[in-house]
Amino acid sequence: MACVIVVGAQWGDEGKGKVVDYYAEQADAVVRYSGGSNAGHTVIAGKKKAKLHLLPSGILHGKRVFVGAGVVLDPKTLLEEIADVEKQDIPVKLVLSERAHVVFPIHRELDELQETAKGKLAAGTTKRGIGPCFSDKAARFGIRVAELIDEKALKERLKTLYDLKQKEVECVYCGKPKSSFDAVYKEYAEYGRLLKKYVGDVSVEVNDMLDNGESVLLEGTQGAMLDIDHGLYPFGSSSSVIAGGACSGAGVGPTRITDVVGVVKAYTSRVGEGPVPTELSGALADKIRENGGEYGTTTGRPRRIGWLDCVTLSHAIRVNGITKLALTKADVLGGLKEVKICTSYESESRKITENPASISQFAACKPVYETLKCWPALSGKEWRQACAAGMDALPIEFRAFLLRVAELARRPVALVSLGPDRADTIELKRVF
Ligand code: IMP
Repeated sequence: MACVIVVGAQWGDEGKGKVVDYYAEQADAVVRYSGGSNAGHTVIAGKKKAKLHLLPSGILHGKRVFVGAGVVLDPKTLLEEIADVEKQDIPVKLVLSERAHVVFPIHRELDELQETAKGKLAAGTTKRGIGPCFSDKAARFGIRVAELIDEKALKERLKTLYDLKQKEVECVYCGKPKSSFDAVYKEYAEYGRLLKKYVGDVSVEVNDMLDNGESVLLEGTQGAMLDIDHGLYPFGSSSSVIAGGACSGAGVGPTRITDVVGVVKAYTSRVGEGPVPTELSGALADKIRENGGEYGTTTGRPRRIGWLDCVTLSHAIRVNGITKLALTKADVLGGLKEVKICTSYESESRKITENPASISQFAACKPVYETLKCWPALSGKEWRQACAAGMDALPIEFRAFLLRVAELARRPVALVSLGPDRADTIELKRVF
């Protein structure tokens, strides 16, 4: 029995999709526990391919998949993903938590309006209604899947929600509601009917699997710097994306967790607003962005690029209790003049080794770098051949980089990913 959490150790987009997909083959089930359709990645398994925002990656491997209570659910997106998977003759063995909250069109409307109203404090959200849905969950106006599949309860709750939220749109933001209760009720009652067969108690089912000695992978979304409590507030997302959130979002106690794998990209990327201490600009940033295909999966926005930041990485390791690292996308940097790793910050002549909570203090932090030799640019085929031959076949400069990251992080590297395919991977330590 193994129960492994895979989390993003930076700002999201670390290559979690590929890592989760790799481990999914070794697990019996995969659970999504946080976020909503703000997350997204394309998963490829042999000839099968799916763009997923809500369904856990294990779906392409025919594994049991769960969407836990910590997720906010856009039912239309989920139904589209199910249809896409079924079209490829893949069985959908899905259990959807009756406790997950539902995102309604009015949440997306409010997401837009709130972002505009926030001015300089806007996070640059994905506009998927995530923040407003989590706000309603905390304020206890939220509507869960349990109500979505119960027409009477849905009607009652949705009426209250729409009466209130439409007033908010009109009176607080001087807007005009775009969605109406009648139309939304009709549409969502149908979604409820279609999803009913998947609904169950995720916590009970996942714990039963663990009791039976089966292995479960808890799939994270976003990254530690976007966590609602430990990320760069208010520029992060709205859910608990760290390992503790995996326990509450899936309904699995912390004593059952056997490993926490932190996915770290060889450089930093960030989509959205707020300070990023190691951010690069100009030709170097453009080159890394193009080489790495660093454009948002959900929004298509170009990602901001920076050097690897081991201050935020140490923060992620501590708040998640990361036991092992998965290092991704170092191939992207191949051929650069040099690579840099930020080992600490400096602010007002002081050395800073922990992320300040205050935005102004964080913005004032200047990175202190260590410079390493870069490895050569290899073709995809050459990286794949090197992966097949094992660590000793990888360029010596890359191995030095990997050792230095592990040393600074004080964690072993369990997995190295040097390309999008399963074959572009070296597993150094097993977690399943
Ligand atoms: P929201 O989650 O749409 O509310 O967006 C809040 C912040 O988190 C914004 O800065 C987004 O760009 C960022 N964000 C949300 N989801 C992701 C993700 O999957 N990858 C990277 N950034 C994300």
